[in-house]
Amino acid sequence: MSLSLLATTTLPSSSLVNPLRSNTKNRSPVRFGKGVAYTSCEQKQSKEEDNHTIDRRNVLLGLGGLYGASATIGSQGKIAMGAPVAPPDLSKCHLATDDAANGEQVYCCPPYSSADIKPFVPSTDGILRIRKPAHRLNHKEIEDFKRGIQLMKELPASDPWNFYQQATIHCTYCNGSFDQVGFPDVLLQIHGSWLFTPWHRYYIYFWEKILGKLLNDPTFAIPYWSWDQPEGMFMPEMYLDQNSPLYNDNRNHNHYTALMDYAYTFGDKNPTPAQYEEVKIRNLKKIENMFIETIGAPSLFLGGPLNAGQVPQDIAGALENLHGLGHEWTGPEAKPNHDMGNFYTAARDCMFYGHHAQVDRLWDIYGSLRGNKVEFNNPNWLDASFIFYDENRQVVNCKVRDCLVSEKLGYTYAMEPQAWKNIKRSYKKLQKGKKRSAGESLSLTPVSEFGSAPRALNSTIRVLVQRPKASRSTDEKEEALEVVVVEGIKYAHGQSTKFDVHIAKPIEGLVGPDLGELAGSFVRVTHTHHKKGKEDATSKIELGITKLLNDIEAEASESLVVSLVPQHGDVTIGGVRIDLFESDI
Ligand code: C2O
Repeated sequence: MSLSLLATTTLPSSSLVNPLRSNTKNRSPVRFGKGVAYTSCEQKQSKEEDNHTIDRRNVLLGLGGLYGASATIGSQGKIAMGAPVAPPDLSKCHLATDDAANGEQVYCCPPYSSADIKPFVPSTDGILRIRKPAHRLNHKEIEDFKRGIQLMKELPASDPWNFYQQATIHCTYCNGSFDQVGFPDVLLQIHGSWLFTPWHRYYIYFWEKILGKLLNDPTFAIPYWSWDQPEGMFMPEMYLDQNSPLYNDNRNHNHYTALMDYAYTFGDKNPTPAQYEEVKIRNLKKIENMFIETIGAPSLFLGGPLNAGQVPQDIAGALENLHGLGHEWTGPEAKPNHDMGNFYTAARDCMFYGHHAQVDRLWDIYGSLRGNKVEFNNPNWLDASFIFYDENRQVVNCKVRDCLVSEKLGYTYAMEPQAWKNIKRSYKKLQKGKKRSAGESLSLTPVSEFGSAPRALNSTIRVLVQRPKASRSTDEKEEALEVVVVEGIKYAHGQSTKFDVHIAKPIEGLVGPDLGELAGSFVRVTHTHHKKGKEDATSKIELGITKLLNDIEAEASESLVVSLVPQHGDVTIGGVRIDLFESDI
């Protein structure tokens, strides 16, 4: 399959769509920005046929994790190392940890400890629920949503449908209420890996279905917070009415009417209206880049693999890192972080569900950009499973493979314009204007390699990094994505963490003061790592830079200057390198 997307930076931005269209020309047209039911079903299903063979690419790229160990039986139980992550054992739920509050022990267990667990079967009622952007809901839709939330809040505190019980589910899967079955030393964690998007898809799916049940309206769809669109880059008004059940006071009140800036770091001032245009363009550019730089390598977008028995590897994809900003921008800055700013309590804010519906929608868009080719053709992803309490009061076991096509779960996203598709020209103009006004300095300084010892990131680290290959041809760029890997990352547990990664072109080993282009940010919302005694895996971030190198005209450079800019949190870096990831499309 030839996808010239990565090499077509000089074509109009509609080229983002065309390569995929031509792939599917014998089917019905792929509509940009929205999954198409039949195409996605067919493709996603047919791709599963050769599931049980080891994907050559996974081996090449080291994405297969513990594949080699998959024949062994875990020493503590029946689950093999390297098998799919199994759902938790309800009877073994224990106290969780709130690292933001100095490791305080908190109770997050579900109000049932054993259950007759049935496999999840998507409903066949034929209803397609249409999720709309929150800022576009009409009066009746807002009132329905408020009534649903009110009813959820009024349920007895111990009812699994109760609003706070629903919120607590997030804590159980994030703050260590459960260990992985068969591996009592390894906590079950659904952030920082390829489990992130499917788990959250199921989570908000059941929330929506339960609300529909309470409202007696099976067509009820939750709104999404459309922060990838200029009009959506504000907190949607309906969440801000203090007398509404949608309101939550544990937020950053300074942001109630502010434009969301993806570059936001705690303490930053709000952009002034005069800066809105610039911030919007930067935000939109970031969305476009996120898709383009990851399209052929799903781990870059969705996160790295996590198999049974593996200590959480904490390799979030571009989507999860970006989503972290939404949490930090919404949650209060004051420490210890609460509600949206802390995974332990994040889902106590209705905005959480709007935020995650948006994340879910961006996953859908990513799928359609890939012609709906399944992201990880790997049984350890497809058969990983979770437990939820459904709208029929049944505990169900949900496999990743059953949530890959949103239409099969009975919902879709309203078609909306996607401003980020056309942002390239405005962004270029913006950059040019800026350079002129800053007055380009020619003072160049030498820059050296990272070296072998870990380094504390308490001021900007600038290093020279060799590329595997310079002057790659168009074909080579189609076959493999160039990726900057920052690895061996260690950070403190009970706090939010953020640093930015910029790329610049060196001039004979020297570099100017300009940091260059932003490749991405490492963002971690306060959450729990490992339990007592057990070492955390160090974390890493992998950022696609194939197109970025075209933008900064650095394709011919043998090496690049990578700048790591601390924003907040205590961080140590183990190393920086540049790799090639084979494209799967
Ligand atoms: Cu489970 Cu937005 O986090």
